[in-house]
Amino acid sequence: MRKIFVAGNWKLNKTIAEAKDLVNAMLPELEKITNVDKAVCPSYLAVPAVAEVCKGTSLKVGAQNVYWEDSGAFTGEVAPKMVAEVCDYVIVGHSERRAMFGETDETVNKRLKAALEAGLHVIVCVGETLEENEAGETEAVVSRQLKQGLADITAAQAEKITIAYEPVWAIGTGKAATPEDANNVHKNVIRPLLTAQFGEARAQAMRIQYGGSIKPDNAAELFAMSDIDGGLVGGASLKADSFVEIIRAASMVTIVVEESEK
Ligand code: PGA
Repeated sequence: MRKIFVAGNWKLNKTIAEAKDLVNAMLPELEKITNVDKAVCPSYLAVPAVAEVCKGTSLKVGAQNVYWEDSGAFTGEVAPKMVAEVCDYVIVGHSERRAMFGETDETVNKRLKAALEAGLHVIVCVGETLEENEAGETEAVVSRQLKQGLADITAAQAEKITIAYEPVWAIGTGKAATPEDANNVHKNVIRPLLTAQFGEARAQAMRIQYGGSIKPDNAAELFAMSDIDGGLVGGASLKADSFVEIIRAASMVTIVVEESEK
């Protein structure tokens, strides 16, 4: 199986001091779990402090967004090489950025290319709104976001890309997609598009995370699905206990699946 990858998206939460406390509280338990890839994405100002705490540990650190220019008159923006100076990961195309900050498939693609150029691993988010879901447009929306977001990306570059499928109606609502519905999008919409663009081997190796109201009590059943290779966790990543429990669930699923594959 693909190694499960769980990332915490802290959004606009936690001061620098709070961020350090949170990561210090989760690290001892997280360090015991070696069969899951894990990361946390604090808000920009806390990224260097959290990266410092995580140095030499198995917990990777990421930013929640990045601009596509290296330098210049772009007040308020942060360049890929600046992010790469302090951490390894970045999220692009989160639905909150699309809905509230003018993110488009085209700008997702620009950010992705620039972030890869700077050597970052990128989590690219896609997902349909409630209206689109109810209108039966999930496949069309996710396909468009993925095709345009990943335009011109090669199979070699895709090694550093994780896709996060986050149905907008499931984010922060407490109403996660069912494991079957999420897996259906991963397996029958996203993976085939990755295969078409990058070839079978690369597409099979890429991780597709699910995101949207992942909690300790639904994590295992989600991660046990064939094409759900991890999660992007918002609310439940803001507490050490619940994030650790979710990573533990991923670890247990890995052990069970590996045993059954023997
Ligand atoms: P949630 O957020 O887990 O709070 O639903 C997920 C996300 O937005 O990445």
